[in-house]
Amino acid sequence: MNTVNGTSKKIVAIQGDITQQAVDAIVNAANKSLLGGSGVDGAIHRAAGPELLAQCRLLNGCETGDAKITKGYNLLAKWVIHTVGLIWRDGNHGEKKLLASCYVRSLEIAAEKGLKTIAFPAISTGVYGFPVELATPIAIRTVKEFLQKNSSIQQVIFVCFNDQLFEIYRQLLPQILSESN
Ligand code: APR
Repeated sequence: MNTVNGTSKKIVAIQGDITQQAVDAIVNAANKSLLGGSGVDGAIHRAAGPELLAQCRLLNGCETGDAKITKGYNLLAKWVIHTVGLIWRDGNHGEKKLLASCYVRSLEIAAEKGLKTIAFPAISTGVYGFPVELATPIAIRTVKEFLQKNSSIQQVIFVCFNDQLFEIYRQLLPQILSESN
């Protein structure tokens, strides 16, 4: 498996399928209804089974930039943290702040639950069209800053579903993690 280690192995990037990650929580790039969709949302619901949707129906949706947690059911991961990204427009409509909020809220919920390992897909970079080269530095910096303030989470894994995305993480992860704040 291809892996890129951040400086301390607390933050790594791998190439793979997030539904196959045996971690405490995987993050789902959901929509505001939390009732499933295509992309990683569809993959997670298929792998988790129908009980996931049944629990999601009780959550009454989720706001953009926020997140809610459910069990993982048939997934290897014990929990799923559903976060709602944003549809990219032009970068002048608060897109960057909302994307960062998806990562922060997901990490906050994981920390509150006492979870140690969490895997993220590249939120909003698929159907929602957020340019990968802009989203990736936001994802890495936001996670790096959160872990500097919250030592309870032991590892964050960025799961890249394709070569192009993994290549971007392979280049940016060491670079950004070695930046002094
Ligand atoms: N494992 C890891 N990453 C995956 C997987 C998977 N099994 N499947 C897709 N991805 C990646 C995509 O390649 C992309 O890099 O997840 C990233 C996010 O893409 P989307 O799933 O399209 O999510 P997003 O862009 O946030 O759009 C969300 O799409 O599926 C609907 O209900 C969802 O309305 C919401 C919207």
